[in-house]
Amino acid sequence: MKKDIETHLDIKLMVDSFYDKATADKLLGPVFNDIAKVDWDHHLPIMYSFWEATLLSKAVYKGNPMDTHFKLNQKIKLTQEMFNKWKTLFIETIEENFVGKTANDAKQRAVSIADLMFYKINN
Ligand code: HEM
Repeated sequence: MKKDIETHLDIKLMVDSFYDKATADKLLGPVFNDIAKVDWDHHLPIMYSFWEATLLSKAVYKGNPMDTHFKLNQKIKLTQEMFNKWKTLFIETIEENFVGKTANDAKQRAVSIADLMFYKINN
């Protein structure tokens, strides 16, 4: 039975499942693997703390995601299509694994941050 997002392990499942999808995706995969050449051992713990801070007010996240994506956008144009795919895969990830209040929060936060990010990158 699906449960809500409550613990560090839940956050880890969410983030790991999302990146399994994103890196396998034909539009987003190359951005992570070939353009940004992401060091996953470094990046995943950052994403755990970002989402744990955002959803559970637990971990400490110190970083500037807007700046990171602004710089990424200078290497490769991050298109509306890419952001749409990012949002779709994130929502799929949540709905496949979780149900509940924080799961709903996660979807809303992800979509609003994604929309703000796309707006800021382009304005
Ligand atoms: C088309 C959409 C997106 C793409 C292609 C993308 C790709 C990336 C890449 C390549 C990195 C750098 C990884 C590294 O350090 O090597 C990154 C970092 C990150 N992304 Fe995204 N991203 C997207 C959207 C988003 C959205 C919508 C969010 C939040 C809801 C987000 C949250 C983050 C965070 C928190 C970091 C870590 C920044 C730090 O180092 O502190 N990303 N992303």
